[in-house]
Amino acid sequence: MTVDEQKEAVGEAALKYVKPGMKVGLGTGSTAAWFVKAIAREVEAGLKLTLVSTSVQTTQLAESLGLTIKDINDVGTLDLCVDGADEVGDGLALIKGGGGALLREKLIWEQARTCVVIADAAKHVPVLGKFPLPIEVEPFAWKGTVNRISDVLVEFDIDKLPIMRKKDGQPWITDGGNLIFDVACGRIEDPSGLGAALKSVTGVVDHGLFLDLAEVALIATPDGVRIVEP
Ligand code: A5P
Repeated sequence: MTVDEQKEAVGEAALKYVKPGMKVGLGTGSTAAWFVKAIAREVEAGLKLTLVSTSVQTTQLAESLGLTIKDINDVGTLDLCVDGADEVGDGLALIKGGGGALLREKLIWEQARTCVVIADAAKHVPVLGKFPLPIEVEPFAWKGTVNRISDVLVEFDIDKLPIMRKKDGQPWITDGGNLIFDVACGRIEDPSGLGAALKSVTGVVDHGLFLDLAEVALIATPDGVRIVEP
């Protein structure tokens, strides 16, 4: 199976968690897009769902497929959220935010009873950190915030600098108007300690460590979809 076929397989497999009448959060990224397409097909065939989205990108995709996206504040607790990840580690600790949607993703995940992560085989790793960790930062006084982030990284024996994410030479701006800094940690030995320390930095809006949030991962392998639990 190609990587794209693996992404399609897990996007389709996640449909089994969807029941009529559910309130469902739609994730962001190329893997989650397959789930959005599968949902659009089922809704067209008559399935009734209430849908919310984790990004402008996903809202645009969903609406282009004829789906209606509700305001999360009008929906309340979700039954389910299905989303991709950049790395899936031990205990279903995740790195997310490669697509820059980590804050809205985390807000939606935390409002869902069940979170299902879908990923291709290459993303299932023994230790998190090969994929650069995205950190979302308030633009005002960002240089001071980055200095404080660097101090935290040193405490965790990570000697890498946060790199501002850019597009066409300009700072990349999130849906919420913030900056993203990526840190090539290498190995994250203590995800929960690092996550808590980063979250305590004034100016850090959030980070891409998603810990104790996913109930199940659907991992595509060349032999089919594997269900992984924490
Ligand atoms: C978006 O901000 C991310 O969290 C994505 O869910 C993650 O980057 C996975 O994206 P792909 O499915 O495109 O690899």
